[in-house]
Amino acid sequence: MKTKYITTPLYYVNGDPHIGHSYTNVVTDTLARFYRLDGNKVFFLTGTDEHGQKIKKEAENAGLEPGDYADKVAVKFKNLWKELNIQYDDFIRTTEARHIVTVKKALIKLYKQGDLYVGKYEGWYCTPCETFWQAKEINDGLCPDCHRKVDHIEEQNYFFRLSKYQKWLLDFLKSNPSFIQPSIRYNETISFLENNMLQDLCITRPKARLSWGIEVPFSKEHVVYVWFDALLNYISACSWGRNTFRFRSLWPADIHLLGKDILRQHAVYWPIMLRALGVAMPRMVFAHGWWLVKGEKMSKSKGNILDPYYLINKYGLDSYRYFLLREVPFGLDGSFSEDTFIFRFNSDLANDLGNLVNRTINMIQKYFNGTIPIKNKVSDPLLKDLEEQSKLLFEKVRLHMYKLEFSDALSEIWKVINKANKLIELQAPWSMFKNNETDKLGELMYALAESLRIVTVAIFPFMPNAASKIWDQLGIPYDLQKTRLNSIKKFFFLKKKIHVKQPQPIFPRIKV
Ligand code: MSP
Repeated sequence: MKTKYITTPLYYVNGDPHIGHSYTNVVTDTLARFYRLDGNKVFFLTGTDEHGQKIKKEAENAGLEPGDYADKVAVKFKNLWKELNIQYDDFIRTTEARHIVTVKKALIKLYKQGDLYVGKYEGWYCTPCETFWQAKEINDGLCPDCHRKVDHIEEQNYFFRLSKYQKWLLDFLKSNPSFIQPSIRYNETISFLENNMLQDLCITRPKARLSWGIEVPFSKEHVVYVWFDALLNYISACSWGRNTFRFRSLWPADIHLLGKDILRQHAVYWPIMLRALGVAMPRMVFAHGWWLVKGEKMSKSKGNILDPYYLINKYGLDSYRYFLLREVPFGLDGSFSEDTFIFRFNSDLANDLGNLVNRTINMIQKYFNGTIPIKNKVSDPLLKDLEEQSKLLFEKVRLHMYKLEFSDALSEIWKVINKANKLIELQAPWSMFKNNETDKLGELMYALAESLRIVTVAIFPFMPNAASKIWDQLGIPYDLQKTRLNSIKKFFFLKKKIHVKQPQPIFPRIKV
């Protein structure tokens, strides 16, 4: 089975990471954990984008050389990923030798085969976005994306013949409609290609204007345009042109995950670059929405960013991950506010999941001296119903996760949690205990423990720490990290005598 190769964008090192950046990494980590749980090998790549004008400017502001400045900020990204329990397999920096070699190799190949030419570049450039715009795309001298001032630029540069591949790309996209997801982004790309003659892409900068970049191997006067440099990370990390065996074992990437603001680079430039290099297409490009604050994209330049550490320190890592994945269907924009965060925390985590764990373990302690009463069937129709719904969770979660429907997967899991909680109310175990209905009470406790086991495996990719704590409190003697998703297909999986621990609240309610 081919290793699942999934990527995040490389983050610019021009500032501290914020919630928006952490989103793609939390999502990709959840997906990677899910794939592993489902028995796949995974290669999860993330990293930092370290060349270009704006990095140079920030370094100057900080009184540092760009390389030293990049070293400092790259560590901040790594630290945040550690804090968020992001289990990546590789972290690539565009200033690393393995990447620089690849970029040079790619350029030489394109140059030799006539895909590059020298021309005069005259046009509009947005430095914060590191993007060229056509005159018709800019509004009142402002960038159509970030609405900041664009600069007029005139210089000799190397161009990449994108236009030559326009027809090929349209044909490719039309025969692969699932290549760009969600479909709104696919339609957007098709209409961009149909309405705009694709312009050739200026892929160098004169060194005299910008020295912080990879030197063009056939022109000492130029460095490589930061986007052309950065996109190639996806093949430099898996050894394209350096180790064919390794490259073949990883490429094509299964999913490139990114924000909708960088769709064009990934859905137009990147496939064309690969085509020109003779490299197979990735399987999917998924562009997610933005986290907004009061209707505006959260970003450093807007000054409306929220510090992930503030939320993690106050409310815990798992609720942070849960909120990002549950609150908004993946692909759409979402509004971030601390109030909504607290609301979700209290209702879904403290009330629903937290209570189920706490009540179940407490009751097993109280009614069965802390040992789960083992059963091999349940007879009560309500318990049978819980059994059925728990078993169905396997397919439902799988289906949603392979479609990147994280919020839907979670809401399916919550249906089981809610059903189990309701069952406790309906069956009133405290009365069974009073009336000495030990068999009935045992069946109920077993069914609750089993469905909780299933729920815990299912939430593991989303909230690895909380899942491990629940697992531990349930006293299940298998390693959750090594558990496979198909273990939740079965009810009556718990067969040994299992001693639960003393319950500890995992999501203590936030007082408002
Ligand atoms: N360096 C380029 C990507 C190169 S990939 C070869 C870049 N970097 S970035 O740091 O500006 O953005 C990285 C990612 O963070 C993008 O996918 C972007 O959409 C995401 N986000 C930044 N702010 C965001 C929100 N407010 N909400 C959600 N994601 C956002 O672009």
